[in-house]
Amino acid sequence: MSLPEAMYLRYHGLLLPRENNSYESLKFAQEFKFEDDDILVVTYPKSGTIWMQEILPLVLNGGDLTVIHTIPNWERVPLIQTKRFALFVNKLASPRMLGTHFPYNLMPPSFYTSKAKVIYIMRNPKDIMVSSYYFHQMAGFLEDPGTFDEFMDKFLEGEVMFGKWTDHVKSWRSSELADRIMYITYEEMVQDLPASLRRISDFLGRNLTEEVIQKIAENCSFKTMKTNNMSNFSLMPKVYMDSDKSPFLRKGTVGDWKNHFSSEQLARFISVISKELEGESFSLPWSLD
Ligand code: A3P
Repeated sequence: MSLPEAMYLRYHGLLLPRENNSYESLKFAQEFKFEDDDILVVTYPKSGTIWMQEILPLVLNGGDLTVIHTIPNWERVPLIQTKRFALFVNKLASPRMLGTHFPYNLMPPSFYTSKAKVIYIMRNPKDIMVSSYYFHQMAGFLEDPGTFDEFMDKFLEGEVMFGKWTDHVKSWRSSELADRIMYITYEEMVQDLPASLRRISDFLGRNLTEEVIQKIAENCSFKTMKTNNMSNFSLMPKVYMDSDKSPFLRKGTVGDWKNHFSSEQLARFISVISKELEGESFSLPWSLD
């Protein structure tokens, strides 16, 4: 399948959807000045970005729901590479909450010298691929994924938005940001959200009561987020995201890959991913098989 140039641009070898990224927005991101108190959510797409866009404002403001009920997720925690970022950045109050899908090496120069804190969410790549497959069906600005098998080839080759999952993880796992970065997995958030919230609030130096933790957990549950119009992308036109084809908040579970992978596909997937992670100093928080 050939690359539809009309839909994607190439940036340092990575495919980025033209709908929400442009060479101007990427230049703007490169020139963006990070502040020491900025908080940055970093994800490979489909790892739980929107979930952290719900969690972060609540952790920072002690569980006040106003922000998540009045400001769309893309505006309250904007992604620095996107076209919209220039529109929202000046409205952000300090400490600013930001997000990105950039690999570590493509971050703006000011990021490396700042003290901005980073929350990096990792998710099992098999579930990421499934989530992404459905996302490609519903998002009008992404290439049709073809069959699941065809999409797996593209995913493993990195011919999908933001390139290879392994490159992304490797770049951030070996980033040497020391105590500036916290790693959390999608799986641990699903398994025990209150415990995850405690880790996040400790990392950000917030002291939340158990009552507030429980309140945040309830409001960031999959079920509640699905009904929050400021977080479920229902404000987006259907040509951009068609939830009749597949909702953005689709399943919210761990292990949906088991409903999609054949044994041959699983073997192919594991073989490619483990080869690319060979010799890395970090280990994955879950088994690949
Ligand atoms: P699924 O397609 O597997 O359901 P991103 O925001 O990075 O694009 O990630 C989207 C994925 O995170 C989707 O996965 C979505 O359902 C899941 N997600 C978002 N909020 C969630 C929540 N509160 N609980 C569990 N999963 C959530």
